[in-house]
Amino acid sequence: MPGPPITATEGDLVEVTLRNADVERGVTVHWHGYEVPSGEDGAAGLTQEAVAPGQEFVYRFPASQVGTYWYHTHQVSDIGVRMGLYGAFVVTPRGSPPSGLDLTLPVHAFGSTTALGDQDRAVERRVAPGTPVRLRLVNTDSTPRRFTLDGTPYRLVAVDGRDLNEPGPLGRDTLVLAAGGRYDIAFAMPAGPATLLVDDDHAGGLRLLPDGSAGPGAGVADTAGWPELDLTRYGAPAPTPFDASSRFDRRFTMVLDRTLALAGRTPKYAQTVNGRAFPSTPTQVVRENDLVLMTIVNRGQDIHPWHLHGHAVLVLSRNDRAPTGSPLYVDSFDVRPGDVWQVGFRATNPGLWMNHCHDLSHFAQGMALHLAYAGITTPFHGSHGG
Ligand code: C2O
Ligand code: CU
Repeated sequence: MPGPPITATEGDLVEVTLRNADVERGVTVHWHGYEVPSGEDGAAGLTQEAVAPGQEFVYRFPASQVGTYWYHTHQVSDIGVRMGLYGAFVVTPRGSPPSGLDLTLPVHAFGSTTALGDQDRAVERRVAPGTPVRLRLVNTDSTPRRFTLDGTPYRLVAVDGRDLNEPGPLGRDTLVLAAGGRYDIAFAMPAGPATLLVDDDHAGGLRLLPDGSAGPGAGVADTAGWPELDLTRYGAPAPTPFDASSRFDRRFTMVLDRTLALAGRTPKYAQTVNGRAFPSTPTQVVRENDLVLMTIVNRGQDIHPWHLHGHAVLVLSRNDRAPTGSPLYVDSFDVRPGDVWQVGFRATNPGLWMNHCHDLSHFAQGMALHLAYAGITTPFHGSHGG
């Protein structure tokens, strides 16, 4: 654990064979945040059946987006992902291979231990001062994780795999990463140590030490009080293909709450969308090329990291305030108690898609629905057998 890192170069055709050796409840691979054709999306029960022990399934899709993504099982995902059925998926630009130190760090809690990649202790690396460093942080948990970097200024250059416009220097800031989300941070290796901490846990994290230095050197700062970066005010504005004043073809409102609801025919406490739990949540229907507005309201007490498959959404407003920084395209974002988010997207990826909370225990308690393109009944495709 985790699964093997999968890397590709922009424009590659990616082919991945999933073989289920012995996971009784079945497995799939979902390419989180990646705009794959719907039939490759790995949503068990929607785009494919779960792969049973002894069976296999071949995923095949073009690597048309660059950036940091991840993959995970989407069958009983609250258990499977928690236990380690996930890995990183990174696509780099054709013609400019990664230079310097480029590290992908999926963060995951195994009980009270936090793993960074495949290490569950502090990771040390020697790096020559001046080396360009890119750290790709992936939150594979169901709750937000907090990152700080001590020892050098840096920039948050990409969110959910998509570059920010003119990201400015950061320092004593805390980056709060939603469940399922990714942050790429970049800096030049300083002459002294640089330390990445997760949730201010000084026993773990990543320590980059300049070549030639003897040991960890000076202690690491207490970063617990460093203020949270407000992403909606970070970077510089740039033109976007639409904004909050555009004419939307479809508008959906999702009110999130924890209530007594019907899940199928049984009433139970559930994490609900508009008072209903999956599979009783009505499907959202769009037509190809629709401009779609989604308003997400959190009326409950829990954080809901929202995740739409197959599309990145542009953040239009949070709590009635439009972003003043870089355009923000995300696939995973924390809707906190009391929050109202407006996000929009152009419906250009026909298929059947999951739209759900990425706190996977909330997902299992019903906080999910389908988004379907009109006229599409099944995205299943040809033979995937082994
Ligand atoms: Cu990362 Cu529907 O999942
Ligand atoms: Cu939730």
